[in-house]
Parts: sequence; structure tokens; C-alpha cells
Amino acid sequence: MAFTIAVAGKGGTGKTTMSGLIIKYLLGRKLTPVLAVDADANSNLNEVLGVRVKDSIGSLREEITKNVGSIPPGMSKDAYLELKIQEVLIEAAGFDLLVMGRPEGPGCYCYVNNILRRYMDILAKNYRYVIMDNEAGMEHLSRRTTYEVDQLLLVSDTSPRGIWAAARIRDLAKDLELKVKETYLIVNRVPDGELNPILRDEIEKLDLKLLGVVPLDEQILEIDLRRGPIFELFDESIAFKTVSELINKLNL
Ligand SMILES: Nc1ncnc2c1ncn2[C@@H]1O[C@H](COP(=O)(O)OP(=O)(O)OP(=O)(O)O)[C@@H](O)[C@H]1O
Ligand SMILES: [Mg+2]
Repeated sequence: MAFTIAVAGKGGTGKTTMSGLIIKYLLGRKLTPVLAVDADANSNLNEVLGVRVKDSIGSLREEITKNVGSIPPGMSKDAYLELKIQEVLIEAAGFDLLVMGRPEGPGCYCYVNNILRRYMDILAKNYRYVIMDNEAGMEHLSRRTTYEVDQLLLVSDTSPRGIWAAARIRDLAKDLELKVKETYLIVNRVPDGELNPILRDEIEKLDLKLLGVVPLDEQILEIDLRRGPIFELFDESIAFKTVSELINKLNL
């Protein structure tokens, strides 16, 4: 079974960037194959990874639910769905990307969702690592479209709100009885790499396990401005070096 890392946190804290940095780390160490899952309805992990997206699981779910007639005669719904998921899966160098797209609208999707979940569990087995970029609202966590998670990495900025949101997501995961083996906090975009003592206290009070802090990295901003892929970031860049050290600590 693939080792699954889910990245979550408040909006704009750097979840997608962090997911990209982790994937860059894994590819650099040949810890492949990697499945990148974009579980944000406003997906943009593909941009960070420099790949183009055609379709999503969400649009596939809509299509199958509304248009049963499109299933070729003689083919079971299950087999058709499996085939379609293969088409949604984007193959890139060292990793594949699966875009979840928008969550379901009103209507009954149980049947399709059940097949999707089952098939995605099977799919995940083909990979060494699954990296899942979640949206701030944790839609996929609460809808249980997220599978078992080995590491839940909560990303925060240097605001108390970011830290509180991280604690809330940890508690939500517990309340939903999601199978999360370990949860860590990463404080991202820290101006001089030094965490304010007030924030440190807050983290302790909330009983969050701090994996480390990632400094603000000008090169990330520069790449982001021209919508370039994270792979263009130098290995010597401060953010990549720090994230590599943090991931090393996880003993993947
Ligand atoms: N360590 C860093 N140094 C500098 N800039 C960073 C760093 N981490 C992230 N950023 C920048 O911060 C912005 C937000 O990052 P990102 O899109 O990864 O956040 P997010 O949590 O995925 O946001 P959303 O909730 O909208 O999905 C981006 O412009 C990104 O380039
Ligand atoms: Mg994002």
C-alpha cells in the first residue's frame, strides 16, 4: 500500500506549494512512482507541477450520474468507470496526477461514489507515495473521499488563525474517525525562519506537534509570479532545503 501524505490547512498558507515541494523531494530521491492528488475544487496543483489538466473525477462523476446512456452497450458501469478514471489520470515524469474537481451537486451519487472510492483504493496501490493537496474547507475529509492517511501535514502561516485552523482540522479528522497515523504542523513562510514565541506558546497550548518552520523564500514567489513549476526551484533554495530536512525527519 502506498504511503499517503495529506496536506491541509487554512486558505493560502502554502498547502499546494508544500505538496509540490514534497513531490520534488520524492522525485529527486527516486522515491517513485508518486500519485499526486489535487483534492481542491479550485485546483491548481497542476500548475505548481507544470502539467495540463483535461478532466477531473468530479466531471466524470457528473457525466456518469446524469448520462447513463453514454455507457457503451455490453460494458458494465464499473468497467466503464475504471476506464474513464484511467483517462482522467495524467501521466507525467515520475508521477501521475489525479484531479478530484468539484464535489457533487445535489442528487444521488452514492453508487458512483462507492465505485470511485473502491477503485481509487486499488489505484493507490500502484504507487509508492500518494501526496494529497486538500482544500482549506476539508471537503474531501468530511465526505470521506480521502483514504487512510499515514501523515497529515497541517500547514499554517505565522498567524494565530492559521494555527487555530490547523488544530480544528486535526480535531475534525479525529471526530470523523479518519484513519490518520500521525499529524504534524508545519509553519510556512516564516520571514526570518524564526517563530514568534507567542505562536510557539499557542502551538504548545493546542497540543500540536511542530515538525518545523519553512522560511519565506523569494524564489518561490518569483516562480509563482510567472506561474512556473516548483521543479524550477533550486535544490539549494532555503525552502526546499528546509522541507527536505523536515521530510527526512518523517522516516518515509
Ligand atoms: N515558503 C514560501 N515562501 C514564499 N512564498 C510562499 C511559500 N509558500 C507558499 N508561498 C506562496 O504563497 C502563496 C500561497 O501558496 P499556496 O497556493 O501554496 O497556498 P494554499 O494553501 O495552497 O492556498 P489555497 O488555500 O488557496 O489552496 C503562493 O503565492 C505561493 O507561491
Ligand atoms: Mg492550494
